[in-house]
Amino acid sequence: MHLINTFLTAVLAVSVVGSPHQPASPPTANVSVLATFPKPVWNENLAIRGNGYILTTRFDKPEVYQVNPGTGERLLVRAFDASVYSGCLGIAEGDTDIFYVISAPPYDDQLTKINGTNTIFRIDMATFETDGQTIVNNATVTKVIDIDAANILNGMTAYDDNYILVADSVQGIVYEVDLAEGRYVAAVEDPKMKATYNTASPATPLGVNGIKMFRSYLYWTNTAGGFVARVPFNSLEGALGNSSIAITDVPLADDFIIRDDAVAFVCQNQVNTLSVAYLDFRPGSGEPSVKASVIAGSLTSTMLAGVSAAEFSRTEGQAYRLYLTTSGAEGKPINGTTTVGSTVSYIDTSVY
Ligand SMILES: *[C@@H]1O[C@H](CO)[C@@H](O)[C@H](O)[C@H]1NC(C)=O
Ligand SMILES: *[C@@H]1O[C@H](CO)[C@@H](O)[C@H](O)[C@H]1NC(C)=O
Ligand SMILES: *[C@@H]1O[C@H](CO)[C@@H](O)[C@H](O)[C@H]1NC(C)=O
Ligand SMILES: *[C@@H]1O[C@H](CO)[C@@H](O)[C@H](O)[C@H]1NC(C)=O
Ligand SMILES: *[C@@H]1O[C@H](CO)[C@@H](O)[C@H](O)[C@H]1NC(C)=O
Repeated sequence: MHLINTFLTAVLAVSVVGSPHQPASPPTANVSVLATFPKPVWNENLAIRGNGYILTTRFDKPEVYQVNPGTGERLLVRAFDASVYSGCLGIAEGDTDIFYVISAPPYDDQLTKINGTNTIFRIDMATFETDGQTIVNNATVTKVIDIDAANILNGMTAYDDNYILVADSVQGIVYEVDLAEGRYVAAVEDPKMKATYNTASPATPLGVNGIKMFRSYLYWTNTAGGFVARVPFNSLEGALGNSSIAITDVPLADDFIIRDDAVAFVCQNQVNTLSVAYLDFRPGSGEPSVKASVIAGSLTSTMLAGVSAAEFSRTEGQAYRLYLTTSGAEGKPINGTTTVGSTVSYIDTSVY
């Protein structure tokens, strides 16, 4: 959806470390804050409208906000029924300016649902009008489907205008939702989607978390596993071969993004860290597993406190700007006690 122009290959090909354009040591990113929410708020995910405005979900309440990319001002687009839903998670654009969002039921401390169901709602932003400060006309919100089989749905991506994919982190399953037919199926259930892939007693119950399609592969983070995996996938046949691990060294990976030139940015929520990895698609490379490098934040820093998801800007002339949501470390307070206001922040990725 976001076409990035030809990359600065001449500059970046200087020192190749196993990948076409990987610098020996990626530089530290400068993090800028666009918007800060008063704590406690947990910004969980985001999607960018064609007009550049940012939609961000809250995990601590079932709400979706729009953030102005120029001023950082925010407006509440939709509050779902808080007596039924505990929060909103993945959000993705299907057809132009039509967004799909997960509203999740109440859950316990193991992120297992207590009652109710995960619902996918459709938010048509075409009817959303503001005078800059206030909402003049609401977005049109309709229920798409309840995913009764799911435990807690987390990441979402649009396969195309007809199908969306959603990740059940606790059960380690990706469901495919047929939007026209109003049906869903368990499309991929891979061992590398399970929290228990590496160990019988993982540090977190979250396996598959963020999901994205890239060059005919379905990619996903495994939070407990600390890696990104992939499998060839299409919407009609599901997984078309064996999965493999694409990126290592991303402990507690949350959501992520892959730029058009195969550079991945991985948000590591509970270690407050953003990492970069250079996927190797060179012919004959065998598309090996690559290591990620930290480019911003740290376990004890508030700079990217609870960084949860990433999406590229769609504003003219800002194709390398990567927006990031943060939870303010509400999921795991820094040094045990410190939380901060959650944010929509950004970095310039043109040097990566
Ligand atoms: C960070 O900002 C400094 C000062 O403006 C600049 O020199 C440096 O190139 C920036 N780093 C990145 C990775 O963009
Ligand atoms: C679901 O469980 C929560 C927490 O125990 C409770 O507050 C809520 O009333 C329950 N909702 C329904 C619909 O049963
Ligand atoms: C938008 O929806 C909210 C919540 O239902 C309602 O309170 C508000 O009046 C609506 N705004 C307009 C302009 O219709
Ligand atoms: C999947 O892995 C198995 C076991 O290693 C192998 O026999 C099979 O050929 C692989 N399939 C594909 C499509 O690569
Ligand atoms: C956490 O503790 C480390 C080590 O004492 C310290 O350097 C860091 O500033 C602390 N972080 C916060 C957010 O207080």
